[in-house]
Amino acid sequence: MTIILRDKAALSAWRSAVPSNQRVGFVPTMGALHQGHVSLMQQAREAADIVIVSIFVNPLQFGPNEDLSRYPRPIEADIAKLEAAGIDALFLPSVEDMYPQGASTMVVENLVSGPLCGAMRPGHFNGVTTVVLKLFNLVQPHLAIFGQKDAQQCAVIERMVRDLDVPVEIRRGPIVREADGLALSSRNVYLAPEDRAAAPLIHQSLLAVEVAYRAGETDAQALAAIGMGILAQSPRIAPQYWDVRDPESLGAITRVGARGALLAVAAHLGTTRLIDNMLIGGD
Ligand code: PAJ
Repeated sequence: MTIILRDKAALSAWRSAVPSNQRVGFVPTMGALHQGHVSLMQQAREAADIVIVSIFVNPLQFGPNEDLSRYPRPIEADIAKLEAAGIDALFLPSVEDMYPQGASTMVVENLVSGPLCGAMRPGHFNGVTTVVLKLFNLVQPHLAIFGQKDAQQCAVIERMVRDLDVPVEIRRGPIVREADGLALSSRNVYLAPEDRAAAPLIHQSLLAVEVAYRAGETDAQALAAIGMGILAQSPRIAPQYWDVRDPESLGAITRVGARGALLAVAAHLGTTRLIDNMLIGGD
């Protein structure tokens, strides 16, 4: 049975009853759970004695023109998935409980948050770091698992944990994809059929660039141009960025060197924004 903890007080009571020799694993989510989320939960199940998942659609990380109000919230189906995955507890707080009137403190990471999605979604990562640190303080997990699907989010949280001495071990889980390569996302349900048909080009652009890199192309701009070229095969895809970055700092690079690189892409299909990425080299 998954225990449902609907506010901070219930979570706190539950957490203090966990014996001190039990390792607590934590998977934060915004719900509309899919196999990508479930894979992180399975990873947590293997690494920890007790697993807790949070579902909280965090208003702080949505921009004024983003999809906060239409974000999918299929809570009954989500709870069934948590039960099936053998999750011990669900933290399901309200916005009022998480952000009491007058809250005026935020967590700001100033380097890794800058480029890519940070540049396209001003303030987004400040909302993520603020809610994730609050969740860590409330849940007090030994380890927390984040998906490589949001590579920049992983890098930002790793930086925050390092810089602020947060006593939580961060692990990354691999990207889970549909059979045609489209990375699973809660936002895929918004895609019109024609956009869904074009969406696998995003993954194909990453694969094409990986092939070019293996064939000897290391120039970052040339690699990005190859990726953009694949996206241009569909008029339904409006690319936001196609970038080749340092895998850790996400700083700009001119060549892919010994550290390897993060290939990162974001595009709109209709009104839906999709992101994907791949690590190359560095091994
Ligand atoms: P959400 O988009 O619900 O994602 C929750 C976790 O699932 C994140 O760590 C994300 O990277 C991971 N995930 C999503 N799609 C995945 C896929 N196809 N394969 C593997 N992992 C995947 O990310 C958030 O929520 C929020 O920003 C949050 C961290 C909860 C803070 O509000």
